[in-house]
Amino acid sequence: SSTAGLQAKPIIGVIGGSGLYKLQGLKVVQQIEVKTPWGSPSSPITISETPSGVPIAFLARHGFTHHITPSGVPNLANIAALKSIGVRFIVAFTAVGSLKEEVRPRDFVVPDQLFDRTKGIRRSSFFGYDGEAGVVAHAGMGQPYDQEVRKVVEETIRSVLSRNYPDVQVHGNKTLVVMEGPQFSTRAESLAYRQLGGDIINMSALPEAKLAREAEIGYVTVATSTDYDSWREHHGPVDVSEVLKVLKQNVDASNEVSLRLFDVLQPLLLAREGKPGGISGLEGSMKMAI
Ligand code: ADE
Repeated sequence: SSTAGLQAKPIIGVIGGSGLYKLQGLKVVQQIEVKTPWGSPSSPITISETPSGVPIAFLARHGFTHHITPSGVPNLANIAALKSIGVRFIVAFTAVGSLKEEVRPRDFVVPDQLFDRTKGIRRSSFFGYDGEAGVVAHAGMGQPYDQEVRKVVEETIRSVLSRNYPDVQVHGNKTLVVMEGPQFSTRAESLAYRQLGGDIINMSALPEAKLAREAEIGYVTVATSTDYDSWREHHGPVDVSEVLKVLKQNVDASNEVSLRLFDVLQPLLLAREGKPGGISGLEGSMKMAI
């Protein structure tokens, strides 16, 4: 743990995805460089406070200048760095493509399932790698998200956005497919992911979510839809310039969400202290997995 020099002790960590390189509207308290046994995280960690004083630890998944590709994200270092400063719960923002008509560009999704379609080239576990003290562990991933927090996040986002973004819908109970990239899917792949039960697709939610679970850190994804991927026959494939325009609104909306969401989550998480599962909902879970 490296909490010695910290001016605030955030239990909520935020990982920002494409476009979200900092949280607007939060007061920056401190920026810290963290080193981990798995290297340096994607960016320094920014400790900020919401207007009502809830501390947040923010990490930019692709770096502050978006120089890290989805396949190159140092996920182990990112999770270990947040863990080392005391983070117990991660809110992970990410841009996604939509595999369903009803999830329109600009909509928010707080998914409840993950489908791993990465290609095995990303290191996806803290355990059982060659040359490291061999401990084999199998974390349970049947329910990849904390359902209590997931529901509260979904409802909070819905109520925040209903004011300034009345056309934006917020979806829950969706399956997020995670592909390798960096290229977008072919139409054949996109259609196949729909048949596999996918609702939205990105390149970054895994192995991040798996590693958070191994670290006993609670985790929830806040996905913002940028495009319809490539499955719609009567539409062209993903258009990068359109994606960037939508991304801008999604980032603005995400910043607005941030001004309220962490104030709602903090008391909910603190109220779990001392109960089974603790603040993260996962306390002690890996003991049973080794
Ligand atoms: N991120 C944003 N849009 C995406 C798409 N269509 N496929 C994969 N990742 C994405």
